[in-house]
Amino acid sequence: MQLGNQLPLRTTTDNPIEDKYIAVFKGVDKKYNMDGYQFTAIKNAECAIPRGEITFVLGPSGSGKSTFLNMLGMLDKPNQGQITILGQDVLAMDDNQAADFRSRHIGFIFQSFNLIPVLSVRENVEFPLLRHNVSRRERREKADYYLESVGLKDYSHRRLGEISGGQRQRVAIARALVTTPELVIADEPTANLDSATSDEIIHLMLEMRSQFNTSFVICTHNEKLIGGSGNVIRIIDGKLQHLGGLQ
Ligand SMILES: Nc1ncnc2c1ncn2[C@@H]1O[C@H](COP(=O)(O)OP(=O)(O)O)[C@@H](O)[C@H]1O
Ligand SMILES: [Mg+2]
Repeated sequence: MQLGNQLPLRTTTDNPIEDKYIAVFKGVDKKYNMDGYQFTAIKNAECAIPRGEITFVLGPSGSGKSTFLNMLGMLDKPNQGQITILGQDVLAMDDNQAADFRSRHIGFIFQSFNLIPVLSVRENVEFPLLRHNVSRRERREKADYYLESVGLKDYSHRRLGEISGGQRQRVAIARALVTTPELVIADEPTANLDSATSDEIIHLMLEMRSQFNTSFVICTHNEKLIGGSGNVIRIIDGKLQHLGGLQ
C-alpha cells in the first residue's frame, strides 16, 4: 500500500524555531494542591525539543517526568508559562480544539500499554482512527501497514491475552503511529518489560523514528536503556537540566 501521501506534512515555515523544534516550553510551572499547600512539581521549565529526533527524559522516580510529559501531551495544563507545539500556542486552545489537535498530532505509549482487552490486535491499532474521517477499508489497511512495521504482521487477529508483554507494547507503538502524528510521547514504555525486551522496544522506537521522521519523547528512570542515542533532558526535583536548548 502506498502511504507516502499520508505521512505527516513536513512543510517548512518562515519561523526557524518552529522548523527546528517540535515543542518549546517557556517558564512553565506545574503545581499540585496538597493538603492545604501547593507542591511545585515542575519549576520554571525552559526547553526546546528537536523535531524529528528522539529525546529521552531522564530522572529518578518522583522527579516530575510524567508531569512534564502530561503537559507536553496536552493531557494537563501548567499553572504558569507558555507551551508551543508545532508553532501553535496550545494553552490558548479551548478543550475541543485541544482534543482535536492532540488526536491529529500526538501519539501516546504508556507503561501499562493501555490497550483494549476485548478488541483484537488490529482493532486496537485501528481505534484512534475512529475519530478521524477514515473509511473502514482504509482503517484496516493503515492498521496492517503499521502492524507490519512493528513486526506483528501475522498477529492482527489475536486477542491481547494471546500475545506477550513485548508484543503488546509493539501493538501500542503501531497504535501511536497509525494517525501519523508528528510527536509520539512514551511514559516509561519499558517499565513492565524484562531487560532484553526493553532493549528491543527502545530499538524499535529508534527505527520508527528514522522510518517515519516522527519526533519521539521517551521518559525512563532506567538510564542503561538509552545507550548513546538521542537528546537528553534530565529532571531533578522538578528542575529541567537539558542539552539542546534554544539558541
Ligand atoms: N496528581 C497529583 N497530585 C499531587 N501530587 C502529584 C500528582 N502527580 C504527581 N505528583 C507529585 O509530583 C511529583 C512528580 O511526580 P511525577 O511527575 O509522577 O514523577 P515521575 O514521573 O518522575 O515519577 C511527585 O512528588 C509526585 O508525588
Ligand atoms: Mg512517571
